[in-house]
Amino acid sequence: MIDFEAFYKITYGLFIVSSGDSVKGNGFISNSVFQVTAEPPQFAVACNKKNFTAGIIAHKKAFSVSILEQGTAPDILGRFGFKSGRDFDKLEGMSVNYGKTGVPIVLNAAIAWLECTLVNTIDTGTHLIFIGELVQSVLLDKSKDPLTYLYYRQVMRGSAPANAPTYIDKAKIDAAKPAGTFKKYKCSACGHIYDEEIEKVKFSELPDSWTCPVCGSEKSDFIQV
Ligand SMILES: Cc1cc2nc3c(=O)[nH]c(=O)nc-3n(C[C@H](O)[C@H](O)[C@H](O)COP(=O)(O)O)c2cc1C
Repeated sequence: MIDFEAFYKITYGLFIVSSGDSVKGNGFISNSVFQVTAEPPQFAVACNKKNFTAGIIAHKKAFSVSILEQGTAPDILGRFGFKSGRDFDKLEGMSVNYGKTGVPIVLNAAIAWLECTLVNTIDTGTHLIFIGELVQSVLLDKSKDPLTYLYYRQVMRGSAPANAPTYIDKAKIDAAKPAGTFKKYKCSACGHIYDEEIEKVKFSELPDSWTCPVCGSEKSDFIQV
């Protein structure tokens, strides 16, 4: 048997992984950054081949990791996690520093950051695992807690899109549950599911001013699933 909900017991943080330079830079939300070795300090990230950032990291041979704070605003997660840099300049209007390798480092909502040079790339099929050796790291705010994937899922009620390695098709989980009288509504921008059974409030009873807690889209952007 495969119980997909067992996967949710693995803990992760949430990050913006960026690359490129001051002319053309880009970043994406990742929950798959982890430290590979202590000596030398090496860090890995699983990056979907379809992500615009994948080609930029492969070309630049360096990347940065912004470690996000628990209070990260939904619009940051929406901008970097549900939209692609192919369609607009994600870094425009953001607070950005440039590292020793020239890569952009997003400072919005960051409590710390790392800069790495690419030392290895592993092709796993849908994703490339980029392994980088640390160039420099900075702690920006030690008073704030990092945003975890658990907090994002359970408190912010966020979900991961299909490009994320942790994506689970909700239909597979729901297929195993008995049908109820509660309805579900999906945000057409980020895929967030408003589940009446969990929220205990009918979707129709939410005010028109209500917005998606994950990406800030309007109530009218939700469709019943
Ligand atoms: C919570 C969350 C976690 C994510 N984790 C990853 C990840 O680890 N790897 C990945 O390739 N994409 C991940 N994604 C998806 C990318 O952030 C998303 O596909 C993004 O739009 C890609 O942007 P780009 O095309 O500008 O590179 C995640 C998204 C969210 C919201």
